[in-house]
Amino acid sequence: MLKLRLTALTALACLAATSYAISSTWGNISNSAQLLHAEQVFNASSPEKYVNREIKFPKNGVGNGRIITGIRAFDQVTNGTGGHATIYSGGPGFNFVTLQLQSQYNYGLMFHVEIYGK
Ligand SMILES: *[C@@H]1O[C@H](CO)[C@@H](O)[C@H](O)[C@H]1NC(C)=O
Ligand SMILES: *[C@@H]1O[C@H](CO)[C@@H](O)[C@H](O)[C@H]1NC(C)=O
Ligand SMILES: *[C@@H]1O[C@H](CO)[C@@H](O)[C@H](O)[C@H]1NC(C)=O
Repeated sequence: MLKLRLTALTALACLAATSYAISSTWGNISNSAQLLHAEQVFNASSPEKYVNREIKFPKNGVGNGRIITGIRAFDQVTNGTGGHATIYSGGPGFNFVTLQLQSQYNYGLMFHVEIYGK
């Protein structure tokens, strides 16, 4: 319970510090978790459009023998124009994940995605 509260507080503190950037974490990322994949995502804005980007792990045609335990998507835009991330399929407990990143209308995407496993 205490741990949960601390996590929530930390999340709030992060939100406040980075003003409006929407970063997300799914599952658990322990110190012993192994980084399976890291990816820097950048897509320029497109006038009068939402920019959508799908992040797949593993990439098509590549196997992954490991179970995903945690995923982080850090929004690196700190001025309120960043996007958001959702899990479309798979995720913690699976050996694959498809993340959907979506920008705000008229804006681009800048995310750092990390996928951990065991
Ligand atoms: C995360 O950790 C908690 C507590 O150790 C556990 O109950 C939960 O199942 C874990 N979740 C995942 C996705 O591994
Ligand atoms: C985003 O950028 C990637 C890599 O530069 C590119 O392959 C992709 O087509 C872009 N997607 C969109 C929706 O602009
Ligand atoms: C917000 O930040 C992004 C990335 O740092 C930058 O590309 C964009 O021009 C900024 N937009 C505004 C309205 O300041």
